[in-house]
Amino acid sequence: MMRNNDKIEHYLNTLPDIETERLIIRKFTPDDVKPFFEMMISAEVVKYLSGSINSIEKAEKFLKKQIDKYSIGNGSSFAVVLKESGELIGNIVLNIDKENYSAEISYVINDKYWNKGYATEVCKSLISLAFDSLDLNRVEADVVDLNKASIRVLEKIGMKYEGKHRQAAYDDKTNSFHDFEIFSVLKKEYKKNIV
Ligand SMILES: CC(C)(COP(=O)(O)OP(=O)(O)OC[C@H]1O[C@@H](n2cnc3c(N)ncnc32)[C@H](O)[C@@H]1OP(=O)(O)O)[C@@H](O)C(=O)NCCC(=O)NCCS
Repeated sequence: MMRNNDKIEHYLNTLPDIETERLIIRKFTPDDVKPFFEMMISAEVVKYLSGSINSIEKAEKFLKKQIDKYSIGNGSSFAVVLKESGELIGNIVLNIDKENYSAEISYVINDKYWNKGYATEVCKSLISLAFDSLDLNRVEADVVDLNKASIRVLEKIGMKYEGKHRQAAYDDKTNSFHDFEIFSVLKKEYKKNIV
């Protein structure tokens, strides 16, 4: 039977909040500019990320772009907030490739909240969304080779290492090139592990 995009289209047109045990993943709002900026100016947070959000104006512009995309069925970047306090502690990206029934995820957590399992919790819920609700076939993540915490997250959520893009990442902080390590999980692997 031919696949169709209905579930993906419905999701992209509604972008519902997602609730996990301790977190809510929701659309950004203009009120998020300040906490988002405060998260993104940490040198630790941006160590392995490309591009930089080093002014409140850049943060505002970045979030406006994400918010504008929600209304045209093209949203991919979301706020991660603590359920208990509503505090913004992260940013998650789910980039869906509708034609190929695949998605790429990436994530940032405010360094005040590292090593509490938050990134793992967010990624697990996005993988469940991808396979259980949207019927995608593949979820991928690309990580700079030095980013051991991120690689650990991907291992914890059941992703498999599939290879590298050699020296695909330029680091302007150290003027050096790094490999992008490619991880992925397929729907059949995900289903096998949970049943
Ligand atoms: C990667 C990142 C999102 C992880 O967030 P987090 O909420 O701390 O992740 P978790 O707590 O779920 O898991 C982190 C795991 O990495 C491990 N870890 C942390 N630092 C590590 C290091 N330097 N080397 C190896 N493992 C490390 C932790 O011990 C933990 O594993 P464990 O549960 O087996 O002990 C966070 O470090 C971050 O925002 N980094 C900056 C942005 C970034 O690089 N994003 C990834 C782009 S793909």
